[in-house]
Amino acid sequence: MATVGMPTLASVLQQINLGVVLLDAEARVHFWNDFMAVNSGTRAETAVGQLLFELCPEVPELWIKKKLESVFTLENMAFSAWQQRPHLFDFAGSRPITGQAQKMFQNATFFPLREEGGAITLVCLALTDATDIAVQQLALAELNQLLQAEKDEQTRLIKRLEETQAQLLQSEKMAAIGQLAAGVAHEINNPVGFVNSNLGSLKGYFDEVFAVLTEYQTLIAAQGNPELDSAVQALNKKADVDFLTQDIAELIRESQGGLDRVKRIVVDLRDFSHVDSSEWNMADLHHGLDSTLNVIWNEIKYRVEIIKEYGDIPAVEAIGAQLNQVFMNLIINASHAVGEGGHIWLRTGTQDGEVFVEVRDDGCGIDPDNLNRLFEPFFTTKPVGKGTGLGLSLAYSIINKHHGRLTVDSVVGEGSRFTVWLPQRQPAAAAEADA
Ligand SMILES: Nc1ncnc2c1ncn2[C@@H]1O[C@H](COP(=O)(O)OP(=O)(O)O)[C@@H](O)[C@H]1O
Ligand SMILES: [Mg+2]
Repeated sequence: MATVGMPTLASVLQQINLGVVLLDAEARVHFWNDFMAVNSGTRAETAVGQLLFELCPEVPELWIKKKLESVFTLENMAFSAWQQRPHLFDFAGSRPITGQAQKMFQNATFFPLREEGGAITLVCLALTDATDIAVQQLALAELNQLLQAEKDEQTRLIKRLEETQAQLLQSEKMAAIGQLAAGVAHEINNPVGFVNSNLGSLKGYFDEVFAVLTEYQTLIAAQGNPELDSAVQALNKKADVDFLTQDIAELIRESQGGLDRVKRIVVDLRDFSHVDSSEWNMADLHHGLDSTLNVIWNEIKYRVEIIKEYGDIPAVEAIGAQLNQVFMNLIINASHAVGEGGHIWLRTGTQDGEVFVEVRDDGCGIDPDNLNRLFEPFFTTKPVGKGTGLGLSLAYSIINKHHGRLTVDSVVGEGSRFTVWLPQRQPAAAAEADA
């Protein structure tokens, strides 16, 4: 029951805070409310009768026609959300909360209007202002992106920290071993020195004693006393003086040989550990390989044959002790891979100005899936207690520090080849800064 002064439904539609447009199948405007008029700057009198895409050129003609067609044929609603089409109409932002929202974000709903007879003649386009929500969501998305970036950065940092710690652990271990080796070498050096010198004296003294003995025998023989002669012969026979003379000399020679070996080992241990020098020098790689081999010889000599194929290479600017660690890790890995009766080839040479050291084995080879994980810290296929997974990662970082490369190729069941490539000289500043 209508009362006087009661607003009509049409006036509600006219004034509601929502865009309301009635369109026919051609997209011709039949109704244009205040919201549309205020925001577009086109009054209803002008708008009605015009084609929407001509009235508002920012609305794509094809797109709007498709929307209308679908509503007319399917007799159902259609939507356009701000996420897909943020600014269907080029309206200014109604609430510029932040500087970002220059334009109004809009959601649009298209719904069919049925005449009383049942036929659909018009479609209503209802347009809502989604600026507030859109701005908040966009800000959130941006924040999320920032957080994600930060998280990625943290993950990267943590990984680097882990690597660095692993390297620290390993190099600390190596330094400790180096120090121990150098200490032992030093301690052994003194006793070996005096035993060696004593042996030398002993040899001289024995020579003299034997000379005196011989002299005695000659003097006794000159006496022409058969009793004395046979007594001397009996004594000689009992003590087997001939044998003693020979064997004592032999024993002393052997002992001196043994001492020489001990001395060599001491020198190798010192060379290998180089505790006193973590400095850049011109390193003789063959020397490094040999002293490394001597140090690990015990671990490998009964199982593996080492074949040296040393080429003609120049000295290389390097921290010798660190390169020795690399060689040691590669050779020990190879010895693990070959097992009993295997072969390890150590080949050196130069190519395109780089010096290379190749450690090749005819061992088990490496699964292609593992090839690009080898240098990760803690990557190991060995049982707990045998492998730490640090050898190759340490080798990699040492070679990196030397501005070189560490490459690997391998065929499962045939063997593996690790190649250390080194520049002959370090880039000028690097040698000082990195040391
Ligand atoms: N010469 C090789 N032949 C076959 N596999 C190898 C060889 N060298 C390294 N690997 C593989 O790479 C892994 C990582 O080596 P490494 O970093 O030295 O750690 P670890 O020897 O402690 O396992 C080994 O567990 C092994 O699977
Ligand atoms: Mg190893």
